[in-house]
Amino acid sequence: MSAEAVPAEPESRAEYAGVLRFYHLAKHQEWQVDDVPWGEMPFVPEGKGTPVRQARRRDIWRSVIMQQLQADVFACEMASQLLAAAPDPEARLYYSTMVQDESRHTEAWLRLIGQVGGEGERDPYLDELAHMFLEADLLEEKVFLMQVFFERLIIPRFRLIARSSRGTVLEDLCNRLAVDDGIHHGAGMAYERVLLQSAGKKVRARLVDAANTMLPIFANHVLWRPKAREVIGTLMEARDRERLREELNHGVRLANSLGLDVSDVRLPAG
Ligand SMILES: [Fe+2]
Ligand SMILES: [Fe+2]
Repeated sequence: MSAEAVPAEPESRAEYAGVLRFYHLAKHQEWQVDDVPWGEMPFVPEGKGTPVRQARRRDIWRSVIMQQLQADVFACEMASQLLAAAPDPEARLYYSTMVQDESRHTEAWLRLIGQVGGEGERDPYLDELAHMFLEADLLEEKVFLMQVFFERLIIPRFRLIARSSRGTVLEDLCNRLAVDDGIHHGAGMAYERVLLQSAGKKVRARLVDAANTMLPIFANHVLWRPKAREVIGTLMEARDRERLREELNHGVRLANSLGLDVSDVRLPAG
């Protein structure tokens, strides 16, 4: 056997350099579920006060984890669809890593939720988003919805959860996922740019429509409170709306940077 290294990637095509860069970044950043400091720190912030109060706090964290678990099971389906649908070898190579990322995320959430009482109430808006993304006909639309928007818009959520769960397994996981989803988003931006080079007016119009349908549902998802979080829901609502407005504006700018004019998105009435 010759010691000559076999190239692990297709002959490089200049316009796909960005996509391949994210493939290498994904390989470099890859972590294993057992790298998470299970058992070395609390799983979620430990409540103080009466057992009733502590149980209520744990239920709040459980609902936070449930929402992320639900999102990552959906991301597994979406990443598999992207892998199956993308015709370009560079993109297929990249998506093979994204499938693995999303399934490791899911494994980690499953392990964590097992520690705080198991699965709970589903977020109906997340189901609505999943349905919309999975049913989208065009590859351009799937990449746009999932990677340009969703992967980017949930990163501030991870930062927020991490900030309120210092010194826990939950914080550790959120930090890992924020990095991974940054790569998922970056790869999608790079690929969408290539796809849009040959996209006609019709496809572009479809994407603008899809964004305008998706963003209000995403807003509902962010503002949704399961029963366990109804109590703190009203307290945080004003701040949440403010933050959400900024995030949605960021989404609009992302679309603009791809040359797509997404109109101003209205927040759902509260
Ligand atoms: Fe994920
Ligand atoms: Fe992701």
